[in-house]
Amino acid sequence: MSKNYIIYTYGCQMNVHESEKIAGILSSKGYVKCESSEDADVIVYNTCCVRENAEQHAFGNIGMIKKLKKQKKDLIVAVCGCMTQQGNFADKLASTFPYVDIIIGTFNIDKFGDILDEKLRSKKKVIEILDKNGEVCEDVTPLRSSYPNAWVNIMYGCNNFCSYCIVPYVRGRERSRKLENVLKEVKGLVESGYKEITLLGQNVNSYGKDLNDGSSFARLIDEIAKIDGKFRLRFMSNHPKDITEDVVRAIANNSHACKAIHLPVQSGSTRVLSVMNRKYTREQYLDEVEMIRSIIPDCAITTDIIVGFPTETEEDFSDTVSLVETVGYDGAFTFVYSPREGTKAAEMDGQISPEVKKDRIMRLVDIQNERNRVDSLKYVGKTVEILVEDYDKKKNAYMGRDERGRMAYFSFSKNLVGKFVQVEITSTGGMSLLGRVVSVEEER
Ligand code: SAH
Ligand code: SF4
Ligand code: F3S
Repeated sequence: MSKNYIIYTYGCQMNVHESEKIAGILSSKGYVKCESSEDADVIVYNTCCVRENAEQHAFGNIGMIKKLKKQKKDLIVAVCGCMTQQGNFADKLASTFPYVDIIIGTFNIDKFGDILDEKLRSKKKVIEILDKNGEVCEDVTPLRSSYPNAWVNIMYGCNNFCSYCIVPYVRGRERSRKLENVLKEVKGLVESGYKEITLLGQNVNSYGKDLNDGSSFARLIDEIAKIDGKFRLRFMSNHPKDITEDVVRAIANNSHACKAIHLPVQSGSTRVLSVMNRKYTREQYLDEVEMIRSIIPDCAITTDIIVGFPTETEEDFSDTVSLVETVGYDGAFTFVYSPREGTKAAEMDGQISPEVKKDRIMRLVDIQNERNRVDSLKYVGKTVEILVEDYDKKKNAYMGRDERGRMAYFSFSKNLVGKFVQVEITSTGGMSLLGRVVSVEEER
């Protein structure tokens, strides 16, 4: 009988893709994915620590597995991901949850298979956390689970040390994959039928800088433009301090590239941006938005915002609100500041009370929701090209996005997942669009 695994993933797309790599390793060893912990022989928790709630979520779930582990002596419980890489966290984890069998950090995830073998052989707990920067991972074939989208790492790590952020501490310094390796992977994915490629890096605009071989993000986009076939190219995240006209022109000239840029601003106050160590001012950010719109007039711009950063005054917050209104974002992920041990901001005086943070985030969310609602209405009566991503059982409809990232739902009599379809938008449901399929692209 085959052995089963289940992976629980927390955090960002980077982690989602890393879980696909772990799935690839487990499936090459003959393990089969299952749907519940009860059926699993190996349970993996791929953790995130960017905010406290992500951490608590994983902690709670690892705690709940104790009972199952008691019933099933051979069950292997593994914890990996960013949480394991902080300070003495791995030891803390091992003592809080003595039944965890494997703890592995972010730099050696490609060794997951060897570590599992070691555990099975020795029957002893294996903890392997490296504190150096890992190599770039090239030799693991992921088992992808997000068709028609495929995630592709172009770089690992981050050099920016935004004062609130734990990522540079748990992911190490920036290291780029070689351009030819990225291109080979993208080509292979397009040939095997993937319709959307999302390039991943904490700061994709600094891609290639560490390679010293002339590679750059703009060049990578130009090279991907030459790949034949119909597919969409997306990428995240961009850092406002590094995005250049070259990059925006490369996007404009690439017929695959979606006219959509995720440009996290974090705050609209120049003073707060400076304490956050973001290295741009409010004015520079607004100039960039203008530059993008002068090159790609209809470019969707989305963002990340943190409210309640230490010392943030009501005036600073008003600056964020006014920036949000000025830019008119197509979408915003809004977060309440969460102190992370070991970061500069966590030590700062002037921490903001939970009540004030809550009040500010609610005000901001209301503003952005209203904006999304009004924007959605502008789609009604238009026909847009949608890449169908999934069938939503709850809504009883297919779901996909347009180039600008707007979600649309529609019904159809046969399976459309992975197809480009023309959808006439007939009404809206809050942020999302509702419509009917006008035509389905023929396979070539
Ligand atoms: N490298 C990416 C995103 C990394 S984390 C970038 O720079 O855009 C994703 C988002 O989480 C960040 O953009 C930020 O808005 C948020 N974030 C990071 N640390 C946080 C913290 N300590 N508290 C609240 N939000 C945080
Ligand atoms: Fe964190 Fe800043 Fe790096 Fe993004 S750029 S991962 S927010 S340190
Ligand atoms: Fe991502 Fe969370 Fe790590 S956001 S890089 S999984 S800390």
